[in-house]
Amino acid sequence: MGMAAPAPLLPADPDPSFAELLAGRPHLSLHAQDGLTMEEVPLAAIARQVGTPTWVYSAGTLRRRYQALHAALADTGAEIHFAVKSNPNLAVVRTLAEQGAGADIVSEGEMRLALAAGIKADHIVFSGVGKTLNELRFALSRGIGQINAESAEELGMISAVAQELGVTAPVALRVNPDVDPKTHAKITTGKSENKFGIPIAEAPSLYGLAATLPGLRPLGVAVHIGSQITSGMSAYATAYQALAELVRLLRARGLTVERVDCGGGLGIPYRDEPAPNPAALAGAIRTALGKLEVKLMVEPGRWISGPAGVLLASVILQKHTGTRRFMILDAAMNDLVRPAMYEAWHGILPVAPADYVAPVSPCDVVGPVCETGDTFARNRGLPPMKPGSLVAFLDAGAYGAAMSSTYNSRPLAAEVLVDGTRFAVVRERQTQEALLAGQHLPDWLSTP
Ligand SMILES: Cc1ncc(COP(=O)(O)O)c(C=O)c1O
Repeated sequence: MGMAAPAPLLPADPDPSFAELLAGRPHLSLHAQDGLTMEEVPLAAIARQVGTPTWVYSAGTLRRRYQALHAALADTGAEIHFAVKSNPNLAVVRTLAEQGAGADIVSEGEMRLALAAGIKADHIVFSGVGKTLNELRFALSRGIGQINAESAEELGMISAVAQELGVTAPVALRVNPDVDPKTHAKITTGKSENKFGIPIAEAPSLYGLAATLPGLRPLGVAVHIGSQITSGMSAYATAYQALAELVRLLRARGLTVERVDCGGGLGIPYRDEPAPNPAALAGAIRTALGKLEVKLMVEPGRWISGPAGVLLASVILQKHTGTRRFMILDAAMNDLVRPAMYEAWHGILPVAPADYVAPVSPCDVVGPVCETGDTFARNRGLPPMKPGSLVAFLDAGAYGAAMSSTYNSRPLAAEVLVDGTRFAVVRERQTQEALLAGQHLPDWLSTP
């Protein structure tokens, strides 16, 4: 008697279906004629006009998410400073500025962008572990609202620049509370081994020092424990509790504390993670810090901008090797680096209606860059797709275009903002000429 054939193995944790991915993203819908559509604009129409790869952002989603966060935080009075690093597109930041957002910046370039987007300097917070003297000069001369200092050395630099300019620098101390937010190691920032912040035990003496240094006005304390935090609120709660104790201690020493900056980090569901929501964050803030009578601030990036964007790409070709099917796209790791850098999972949806009814089978979705790491997804269920077929990477609005490079001499992709039935190119695709511009041959090389 022959043995029964083994039952086919089902994946232990199957990927969400196309329908499930769509259901969680209200700005995307599937139309019988037009295919995948953002707000009222078919993505195929954008690809026809602008080409691929192209980042596409939903203005409605940016507004909706900003307002949801704003409403959740309303009774805490917390001000929202959008983390520009997550998406430094001028039109994106302008859309949020119109809603009332301030900015969290980490460089002169980001400050210039926030100002160009219409955010007032006193609504901008300067974070980061290594601000240069020139960046400090720029920020203070423009009247920055707050500089989050991360070391005694930096307090000295800020004091020196403030005296040079004859201004008083509004500073907060970024403390490192040594909590583990249980996110990816490369985006954990609040553990003692990370480079960020001042160890909380040293914060009281440094705050005292800041109060004595010329040109400094210590306003408060700040914390940011990491990014893509999906593990519930316990890490936030621990960090905020530690901040509250620090504020009480500083006040007991006669020091003035007017502000607490609660950082960013709220995660989003890329696949099917149970991500915390703004109400939970607001609850953690309220519980620990609500009675301190301080001005509260938050610095979210990803939670606002991540779900608002897709990366639109075309299939160059499908290649079969042995049992594997590779879908090779015209987008690559130089465009969207998160899968290569953080093993991140991004939903991938076809754009054409026909691709939703064709049978799916596993394939590896890759880019043309000469790195094995240029792999967006392995064993992803997708239909066979012809050259020129379009796909959209979901939740690519944060740390997407922002982290792009020109590796393999690939021009930076175009960026488009969709708003209802309208769309506009808000950043042109980099030209091949622009890629070469700025390079010069020294005079000892022969002219080609
Ligand atoms: C100081 C600071 N604030 C805010 C953010 C924004 O984080 P997220 O996009 O996770 O909200 C970051 C990100 O690394 C950060 O370093």
